[in-house]
Amino acid sequence: MGMTPAIDLTHPRHATPPPRSRERYARPPLLPAPKGERVHTNDGRELCLRHIEPGDVAALKRQFGRLSPEDIRRRFLHAMSELPDPMAQRLARIDPAVETAFVLMDETVKPAELRGVGRIYVDVAANSAEFSVLVERDWARQGLGALLMQRLVDDCRRRGLSEIWGYVLLENRPMLHLCKDLGFVRRLTPDEPGTTLISLQL
Ligand SMILES: CC(C)(COP(=O)(O)OP(=O)(O)OC[C@H]1O[C@@H](n2cnc3c(N)ncnc32)[C@H](O)[C@@H]1OP(=O)(O)O)[C@@H](O)C(=O)NCCC(=O)NCCS
Repeated sequence: MGMTPAIDLTHPRHATPPPRSRERYARPPLLPAPKGERVHTNDGRELCLRHIEPGDVAALKRQFGRLSPEDIRRRFLHAMSELPDPMAQRLARIDPAVETAFVLMDETVKPAELRGVGRIYVDVAANSAEFSVLVERDWARQGLGALLMQRLVDDCRRRGLSEIWGYVLLENRPMLHLCKDLGFVRRLTPDEPGTTLISLQL
């Protein structure tokens, strides 16, 4: 009767040596990080929320072309017939030390379209930041303005700022409602008639 070997070396388990610990404990290959965060409108449409990039200039200009004169005046506080290239370049190429700009990208169309933008500009000396926000009309009243404002407030807190503030036209009821819901108050009436300054202490 032949001796049965303690280890059956023909078993597939033993056919190949075990991986070296370097390989065994190696991290799985990194998948490219998904760019941005999926967010949804109240009626279920999907958008990608991410930081603005220099490559967004064309999308910024296309969005400007879809805005009504009223939206433009409410966002920029004066009339503008076009978004000049240097300004679009400047809006897309931010200095992260003192600026944050979130965009809401609609990737269901090609090229992807920018449906909303929210940005802050930090005043280092005052330890505060000025905000601006814009959601294009077909995407309004879907919670996106509130989402962008909340992310800007969170970003200001992360930066350790004491206040976020912005100029809003007095006739801009949607924005005044939105900011009231978020706890903003009128800080003072600036010199420009028809405009108010609203702020939130952080
Ligand atoms: C103001 C603006 C950003 C609001 O964006 P939005 O995505 O429509 O806002 P939301 O859907 O998140 O609305 C949040 C809240 O704001 C208020 N609101 C928004 N639109 C409103 C409207 N037309 N009438 C009254 N209240 C309104 C409501 O309180 C609303 O909450 P509710 O829907 O639960 O009632 C958008 O209308 C816009 O871009 N306007 C042009 C640019 C501008 O005015 N920017 C602000 C100055 S920087």
